Amino acid sequence: MNRSLPLVPACLFAAWLLSGCAARQTASSAASPAASSIVTSGTPSLKAAFKKDFLIGTALNLDQVSDKDPATAKLIPEQFNAITPENLMKAMHLHPEWNRYNFEPADKLVAYAQQHDMRVNGHTLIWHSQLPGFIRRIKSADSVRQFFTDHITTVAGRYKGKVASWDVVNEALNEDGSLRKSVFLQHLGEGYITEAFRLAQQAAPDAELYYNDYNIEQPKKRAGALTLIKNLKAAGVRVDGVGIQGHWHIDNLPLAAIEESILAYSALGVKVMFTELDLTVLPNPWQNNTADVGRTAEAKAGMNPYTSGLPDSVQVRLGKAYEDLFRLFLKHKDKISRVTFWGVNDGQSWLNNFPIRGRTNYPLLFDRENKPKPAFYAVIGIRNGNNTEKLND
Ligand code: G3I
Repeated sequence: MNRSLPLVPACLFAAWLLSGCAARQTASSAASPAASSIVTSGTPSLKAAFKKDFLIGTALNLDQVSDKDPATAKLIPEQFNAITPENLMKAMHLHPEWNRYNFEPADKLVAYAQQHDMRVNGHTLIWHSQLPGFIRRIKSADSVRQFFTDHITTVAGRYKGKVASWDVVNEALNEDGSLRKSVFLQHLGEGYITEAFRLAQQAAPDAELYYNDYNIEQPKKRAGALTLIKNLKAAGVRVDGVGIQGHWHIDNLPLAAIEESILAYSALGVKVMFTELDLTVLPNPWQNNTADVGRTAEAKAGMNPYTSGLPDSVQVRLGKAYEDLFRLFLKHKDKISRVTFWGVNDGQSWLNNFPIRGRTNYPLLFDRENKPKPAFYAVIGIRNGNNTEKLND
């Protein structure tokens, strides 16, 4: 067994064993009827455990808000009280053609959230990636500005009063803290970020407005994000919060940088959120954390080691990493308003396909059958000790 085993309370590991999960977290994606009963029979609830601390969110897609899989359909409202659309509010989906929007899937997500009393964080109004194809054909700054203005005004306006918050601008920074040379920077100049927040504020005056990015806990990129927030404030534009995405590796968790960042951002008077949390357990081809979807790597021998299940030793390391993180989150719960996992279960995670396609990853708290993993019990256990709150408490 891995030497870090004693760091996860033995009772939590035992809870997982009793739940029938041991040696059964396989790569199978089928959710059996038994899985759904396990999820509802006395499994503690994350949203209940942390209800006095921060919201607990997840990222959802169309299948999930359509209740296609009964086990997932039960699990989501029991465990989470906030939703971020993983993909379906991205511009390429919402605004596929210059003069055409497709709101149906996003409307469905919003209705699902209302039905289950969950808070929606809109993701995302302005992002350099996942743009509609027609953007590539635009050559003039005027046309980019027209798309930009129309998109923010139309989308934020449609969901006024329904979407509680927006990731107004996503991933505008390079790793050194400078501004990414996106289509928006190139055509509209540095002022595009302020303009995006101004337009969002006009279209959805009651929505909270956030800047969201990965690696902004790292000192250089953090400095860039702090400057970005200060510039917004200096321009008289409202910015309510910052989203630290939280795509990290279990063996490369930057706890000190995360704590410094919580303090630095909240010192500017903005809410801090962890908006896309997942912890990869697979070998990283680059030896650093990144969520740059523009990068890919080739599959090589040894890069997909857990195709037939996750070894207990790695389950325990994952649990320890999540436990360390949530201890830190609780220490600063007065500054943190939401922690959102990037997906519901391991089978859904984008990390099965990034940065190498077709791997079997295990980055979340629920396995492919929606069963809680040791990491789930590690997280919930630090909040409530052994007296975890049960569902509906
Ligand atoms: O829907 C198509 C499907 O029809 C097709 O067969 C398949 C073949 O590749 O692709 C499917 O689309 C994929 C889509 O996810 C839905 O699974 C796209 O290729 C794929 O690029 C897309 O990836 C998403 C990625 O953003 C790019 O939009 C991931 O699901 C999503 O988790 C990821 O989320 C981002 C955040 O928005 C911003 N921060 C980083 C984070 C992780 O990259």
